[in-house]
Amino acid sequence: NEVVSRTRSASKLNLHSIMEEYDSTSNRTGQIWNFATSETETIYLYKTLLTKEHFFNASNLAIFRNELRLGLGSYFNNNVVIDQQNTPRNYTFTFESKKKSSKKQISDDIHKRLPNNISYEVIPRCSIVGNSGLILNSTCGNDIDKADFVFRCNAAPLKAFVVDAGSKSNFTTFNPSILETRYQKLSQPDNVTRFLNDMKEYRELLWAPCYTAVTMENCTKVLKLYNLTENKFVLGYPSHFKKVQEFWKTRGFKKRITTGFYLVNVAISRCRELHLYGFWPFLQEVDSAIKSVRYHYFEEIKPDLSKVEKVHDMQSEFSVLLQLHNLGIIKIHIGRCN
Ligand code: CDP
Repeated sequence: NEVVSRTRSASKLNLHSIMEEYDSTSNRTGQIWNFATSETETIYLYKTLLTKEHFFNASNLAIFRNELRLGLGSYFNNNVVIDQQNTPRNYTFTFESKKKSSKKQISDDIHKRLPNNISYEVIPRCSIVGNSGLILNSTCGNDIDKADFVFRCNAAPLKAFVVDAGSKSNFTTFNPSILETRYQKLSQPDNVTRFLNDMKEYRELLWAPCYTAVTMENCTKVLKLYNLTENKFVLGYPSHFKKVQEFWKTRGFKKRITTGFYLVNVAISRCRELHLYGFWPFLQEVDSAIKSVRYHYFEEIKPDLSKVEKVHDMQSEFSVLLQLHNLGIIKIHIGRCN
């Protein structure tokens, strides 16, 4: 009970082929693809799975990729970004909202600011950096930057954390709510200047999930004022996220998947070796009643976890990630890197 308590109802995932593979090697047959039901279960998974020696397993990766490919269809390796190829001029996106669906047209002015075509070749080694404070004092920066492609979440600042979190960035998510929390909705010119200056840290794609009509409105405002050459500000493709969400819903997930978990799905479709850092949905270290862990490594926020839990189920996500680790599909790094 040092770890934040989150009780969950168990629901089975149904990835038959992988389950069979696991069943033949597991002495806890049937546990794989179950969500953790409690902190005890998650810690059990953590201790038994993550403390074993890890090997990447190309055939398990292929099986899981295939499962994803079937679930996502044409979205499997495509449409993570709205670009000029996948979105015709004046295309109208329909957004679901609680009251009624709402529409927003991609005007000519926006269309010309979209990237021409975003596609990825297969990438040998990728890192995804989650935002947990567990990454502090890990000295994993070099390890993270060894990857050919680094995914990061929510414009986590880089410069001050290079030793632990590295500095390379190829795909950095930018939740539109950051415009409110850090840049006062860009209401004054100095907020805009600060925003543009901060964004210079990142390379390649700064990717904003603008999945409602209102956030799309804000994101297109940003697109119009974005004049940096260091990177591109791009818009997430709403139906891609929806497809990944549905994939996990049909396997028992009830809540909205987190940015980090979404990125794992995006990366699995294109990375041969996928390394995760900073994924730890607890506010304490597992073996220490004393040592607390920041929710975000770069800021001292104390989130209202009951609010977070209304939207996300990070513990179930984490138990799935541990199982993917055990199958050699991803590698979760916890603790210090050498
Ligand atoms: O956008 P979101 O609120 O989901 O993410 P965030 O708090 O900026 O963190 C980025 C990602 O890191 C999350 O989506 C989680 O997948 C992961 N994370 C974690 O595993 N443990 C934490 N304490 C915080 C974040």
